[in-house]
Amino acid sequence: MSEINAGILGMGHAYPDGVLTNADLEKIVETSDEWITSRTGIKQRHKAKENEYTSMFGTAAAKQALERAGLEPTDIDIIVCATTTPDQIMPSTGALIQAQIGATNAAGMDIFAACSGFIYGLTMVESMIRTGQIKYALVIGAEVLTKYVDYTDRGTCVIFGDGAGAAVVGPVEAPKGILATKIRSDGRYEEQLYAPGGGTKMGTTHQTIDDGQHFFKMKGNELFKVAVRSMAEISAEMLAKAGYTVDDVAIVIPHQANQRITDAVASRLGVPDEKVYSNIAELGNTSSASIPIAMDECIQSGRIKEGDLVLLTAFGGGVTWGATVIRF
Ligand code: COA
Repeated sequence: MSEINAGILGMGHAYPDGVLTNADLEKIVETSDEWITSRTGIKQRHKAKENEYTSMFGTAAAKQALERAGLEPTDIDIIVCATTTPDQIMPSTGALIQAQIGATNAAGMDIFAACSGFIYGLTMVESMIRTGQIKYALVIGAEVLTKYVDYTDRGTCVIFGDGAGAAVVGPVEAPKGILATKIRSDGRYEEQLYAPGGGTKMGTTHQTIDDGQHFFKMKGNELFKVAVRSMAEISAEMLAKAGYTVDDVAIVIPHQANQRITDAVASRLGVPDEKVYSNIAELGNTSSASIPIAMDECIQSGRIKEGDLVLLTAFGGGVTWGATVIRF
């Protein structure tokens, strides 16, 4: 009997219709299209309206992924939603999406690993599927980051956008499927990207709200260096573990953090630009959603074909990082 791996059976993505361009931001903070474009590669990002929230986009992406996988919501055993911007503190956004799609046989849960969350989710369900503990999982990255962004802080408000991507993961025959995957974190770098207020350490008060403690705070410059080093190292490690080199990879899909980070990771790995996917100009940094949105775009446009070896890598607040090698 051939070996069973966990593989991608279908994907979907969604984002709000609302768009915030660099020209719009020029009216809000002291910045310029030229600065944002040259430092980040971002031209616009999607932004949820007041009455739009994370599970709405996660649900839309999940429904599309299920349809493309040819499965019913009731086939799903677990919904893992990676998000740093949940609908609410309780219950989990995974449980809320479960109800919205009618996945009555599933467990719903959240993973809190910032921009690396989708790779955390894939890594978790990979072993559950490979060992036969479950059959089908929905791994979702969904974020409404713009509600946690301080629009007086030009260092963060130009970066983040909203959206969601989803993957149905299930058993496939080797040599297809996830061949190597690994996640890491280092909480000593907490203050490089964090939101201090609103938890049990700094409970919400009028003062914390007035001080904007619930907003994301970022030391972009320091994060940059750790991000590049971490993503390049773990990518090389996972390619070696899977028994391949960068020459075997059809496409690299890095977390869309910043075009300069993507370029630096590609250069360290020795991957030519044309093999590295980027949609950051249109979507900005959508945290845990960026990799599944990019993967789905690549599948729909034919940039990922059956048999292709794909490298995913991410880095985020925590700090967290990870990489996954998949044969489609
Ligand atoms: N518009 C204009 N000027 C800006 C600005 C903006 N939106 N944001 C910051 N600046 C200014 C700073 O105030 C600073 O001015 P000063 O020299 O007078 O003090 C100057 O630009 C340089 O700031 P710095 O933070 O060193 O810029 P940078 O080249 O590191 O670029 C980031 C800033 C945020 C774009 C960059 O560090 C970055 O992308 N880091 C990674 C962030 C990221 O990806 N986070 C998510 C990880 S998952």
